[in-house]
Amino acid sequence: MTSPEILALPPLLGAGGSVRLPGSKSISNRVLLLAALSQGPTYITGLLDSDDTQVMLAALAKLGVRVDRDGAAATVHGCDGRFPAREADLFMGNAGTAIRPLTAALALSSGRYALHGVARMHERPIKDLVDALVAIGCDIGYTGNVGYPPLALGPGRPCVRGPLSVRGDVSSQFLTALLLAMPLLARDQTIEVNVVGTLISRPYIDITLRLLARFGVHVDNQDWQRFVIPAGSAYASPGRIAIEADASSASYFLAAGALGGLRGTSTPVRVEGVDAQSMQGDVEFARVLERLGVAIVWGEGWIAAAGLQPGRKRLIGTDIDCLAIPDAAMTLAITALFGDAPTRLTGIGSWRVKETDRIAAMVAELTKLGARVEAGADWLRVHPMQGDAWRNAIIDTYDDHRMAMCFSLASFGPVNIAIRDPGCVRKTFPGYFQSFAAVVRPVPVITIDGPTASGKGTVAANVARALGFHYLDSGALYRALALLALREGIALDDAPRLAALAQTLPLRCDGATIWLGAEDVTRAIRAEEVGQAASTLAVLPPVRQALLELQHNLRRAPGLVADGRDMGTVVFPDAGLKVFLSAATGARAERRHKQLIYQGICTSIDEVLADLRSRDARDTARDVAALRPADEALALDSSDLNVEETVEQVLQWWRQRA
Ligand code: DC
Repeated sequence: MTSPEILALPPLLGAGGSVRLPGSKSISNRVLLLAALSQGPTYITGLLDSDDTQVMLAALAKLGVRVDRDGAAATVHGCDGRFPAREADLFMGNAGTAIRPLTAALALSSGRYALHGVARMHERPIKDLVDALVAIGCDIGYTGNVGYPPLALGPGRPCVRGPLSVRGDVSSQFLTALLLAMPLLARDQTIEVNVVGTLISRPYIDITLRLLARFGVHVDNQDWQRFVIPAGSAYASPGRIAIEADASSASYFLAAGALGGLRGTSTPVRVEGVDAQSMQGDVEFARVLERLGVAIVWGEGWIAAAGLQPGRKRLIGTDIDCLAIPDAAMTLAITALFGDAPTRLTGIGSWRVKETDRIAAMVAELTKLGARVEAGADWLRVHPMQGDAWRNAIIDTYDDHRMAMCFSLASFGPVNIAIRDPGCVRKTFPGYFQSFAAVVRPVPVITIDGPTASGKGTVAANVARALGFHYLDSGALYRALALLALREGIALDDAPRLAALAQTLPLRCDGATIWLGAEDVTRAIRAEEVGQAASTLAVLPPVRQALLELQHNLRRAPGLVADGRDMGTVVFPDAGLKVFLSAATGARAERRHKQLIYQGICTSIDEVLADLRSRDARDTARDVAALRPADEALALDSSDLNVEETVEQVLQWWRQRA
């Protein structure tokens, strides 16, 4: 399935349910390489299937490593430290977890290899790793800019005579790369790797060390400053290994469970496949949420977030040191919008060299939502938002999966968010938006579409009142626009001028009263002439498009009942209940006639009938958003029902759905 370029997300009311998370990216790519370097076959279960693991698998295939896939399982036939292919051209995409360790392993493999990636990969630094490898005699050249991929690797003469040094304060992946590769040289000698500068993202080094141990190499970690690989080390397959679910991916769902409780209704959101015993540092995110006032439940093989702790109305805004959880920390930048005070995230300097400059991206996109944000080289302060400050926004994602995933949580604000290039989640979580939709509860919508004078307005208003929902009379928008156009002498087929007018329409609905600026136009818009004009300009696609946002904005908690022609088919396609209300033409003409007389508007039944017929024909025959029942709409013929009976039928359907 190809994904849309922009994904519109409805405003959310709550969350609940459970999600089985995909495998961890960090563990999947490390295990694939370790299994390839080992002696003997390794059977891997729970492998992540995503862009970044595809990059690693494709590289291993080109290097001559046999991998038999079977869904989320794979058997890697290890090559005992020597890749069969002595030459290869390897595409690394934007996968840091592939290019860094492969550079180190291939630099020791006495072959000729070219490594390159997407444009952003060629902006991500790799010099610290290359320097450490060149210092021991590896042959690595830059074929683009010095310090960045693409790289050309030659056979070289790697030889370790003393301790290796590598910087630990830009990316912990440089150290991981050395730790994964150096056992290849440790058969006859002890190898020491010293870290220069403060080591960031320690939990990721912990993952590396634990996995090395599973593959038979036991590294002595001396206070995160020096790592000693004992002489005689050699990779041996553990036979079978299960990949843990991805703890960074868990953060979005735990945050959804937290934010779902903002309105007091908290059904837990449970993430399956991670727990307190996980080797991934990002499970710490759940502890951070606990400190912020979220009710977290820890189970065996799962973690759940069940809204806010008793007595809390918002999350706690505070300073959070994110050095150990750089990826999950992005999620905290969004939950901060729902804080009771500003949140300052520190220790996030590594964001600058990730898939995009994540600090800059975060500032730009949070600002679009109306948030106040400040940032420095390695920190970000996000101020909480109140109701009116929120703005609808189309969020740019910068080809960064985490931008797309964490901004989906902004839909817990009273806004309509759209995510540009939602397909970028392929990098680590191809099914993210499906999983997200399965656990969140959008603000509910009931749509009642039907022909003119079918009684949908009265029925919809009564249903809304009974449920305490907001009410949208979408016809009133078209009528108000038509009234303004008639007054200003704008031709009813002048699409650009009408669309411009629609975009700034000063319309406000206050119960049954419709305001156009300071004027109460409730009665004026009901005139037949205005109805005909509305029906005429409603055929113009730019006009319909311009009125769309106005209609989406009315979807607010606790819910909305919307009536019109295209509520179920176009405006709210995800509505929880769609009704198509009709009545025989004679019955509708009679009702409309009575209504007009009641309003003091003088007309004959024949005139009304003729008007109805011409309006029906135009509304049904037009090319865009034509009047027709939505596929899932329930048909309701009100010819022989009174208003109360019709309303009761809709309410009954709604109760059945709920
Ligand atoms: O429901 P109504 O009669 O008040 O609507 C007036 C006109 O506005 C209708 O003839 C067609 C147009 N309309 C529309 O095109 N789409 C809607 N959702 C609602 C009304």
